Amino acid sequence: MDKLLVHGSGTLQGSINISGSKNASLPILAATLLSGEPSIIRRVPDVSDTNYMLQILRALGSEVERSSGTVRVEPADISPEAPYDLVRKMRASICVMGPLLARVGRAKISLPGGCVIGDRPVDLHIKAMQGLGAQVEMEGGDIILSSPDGLIGAEIDMRGKHGPTVLGTDNLMMAAVLARGTTVIDSAASEPEVVDLADFLIKMGARITGAGTRRIVIEGVDELKGVEHNIIPDRIEAGTFMVAAAMAGQGVTLRRVCREHLSAASDTLSKAGHLVDFNEEGSEMTISPGDQPRGCDISTAPYPGFPTDMQAQFTAMFATTPGISVVEDTIFPQRFMHCSEMKRMGADIKVDGGSALVRGVDYLSAAPVMASDLRASAALVLAALKARGTTEINRLYHIDRGYEHIDEKLLQLGGQVERVPAG
Ligand code: EPZ
Repeated sequence: MDKLLVHGSGTLQGSINISGSKNASLPILAATLLSGEPSIIRRVPDVSDTNYMLQILRALGSEVERSSGTVRVEPADISPEAPYDLVRKMRASICVMGPLLARVGRAKISLPGGCVIGDRPVDLHIKAMQGLGAQVEMEGGDIILSSPDGLIGAEIDMRGKHGPTVLGTDNLMMAAVLARGTTVIDSAASEPEVVDLADFLIKMGARITGAGTRRIVIEGVDELKGVEHNIIPDRIEAGTFMVAAAMAGQGVTLRRVCREHLSAASDTLSKAGHLVDFNEEGSEMTISPGDQPRGCDISTAPYPGFPTDMQAQFTAMFATTPGISVVEDTIFPQRFMHCSEMKRMGADIKVDGGSALVRGVDYLSAAPVMASDLRASAALVLAALKARGTTEINRLYHIDRGYEHIDEKLLQLGGQVERVPAG
């Protein structure tokens, strides 16, 4: 198990490439199960979550080859049982449910356990499958779904207490592409990762319209074919480096980004007084810290609103931004574990219910801190880049779940970081 030592108060400069999106890769890799033919997916980030997904695909009977960012999956004969040992490691393994049910008429998946960012139920995933006519049983911690006579298209509303569900929309879309008749998904998630999955499914032969809006319509087809696909850039990785550049940079360029996906993060950075410049195509951006940074308020919301996956990183920035900032998370109201660790570094943050009141302090001081989940860990790295002294970030495996070679990318920008084995 590694830890990261961050020698703070340095300056970041230069340019890096942003990797392919983790959260688009996971459902797209699961979607390869919908055809017996091989698919080739490019720009899959080398992070532990995509590796877990590849292990699950192998355990289900697929042949999988990986060569750096390119993955070939051939799921000729597959079994419907996703093994507990792998599924328990990653909540996103739930998204093999739709493809298995659609392709083999049965899926057995362990119920995901508790999660550090809050209660994460799967009721909407189950409602979606039942809506298509699947029978659902619970047995020994597993969900067993079956549809011996095939799935049947239906109109299904995916709105939950905290808004639309991303992976729930993905699961329903993946099940409905092989269902008989028309499926309408109301209150669908419209995140770019959902659109990337729809684009992949359409290449496979699926008939989908409306992805990227709140209403997706799917006409079921009899079979799908294997195809090739390039994953979209990771907007959360890009957003994380945007914040790093605003906090500790002196003109950092991020290449291979998509401007359209980054509007909430770039608008907020501009509002906080920093400078964000895109090239004409919107595929490259340069971020420079402003002379008079100021605190501001953010509230997370489904896309195109401010992403919950960027909340912790902006909280880290506000910790040393003059003024008061209020950060509200309406999607995961318990996602504030990073705040107690940042307080150990001298941040002035009061968490109350689903929001945090942040009073910017002049500086943070290094301290040993503990990563608790993926984005919380990223926030601690950002805080550490700005802090005085050397911060030790333990439990680095959290960050390795979703950031491809983060230490190498920081080193490339001149950051002073060291990955060392935890003693
Ligand atoms: C996806 O998770 C992302 N994961 C998360 O990113 C992200 O935080 C989240 O969407 C919200 O944007 C992947 O794409 C792999 P949801 P997902 O279902 O789909 C509630 C990261 O850091 N809900 O959209 O699982 C739920 O509790 C990760 O990369 C139900 O009530 O999230 C939440 O309040 C963490 N019932 C809200 O909906 C359900 O059946 C939205 O969650 C499902 C969800």
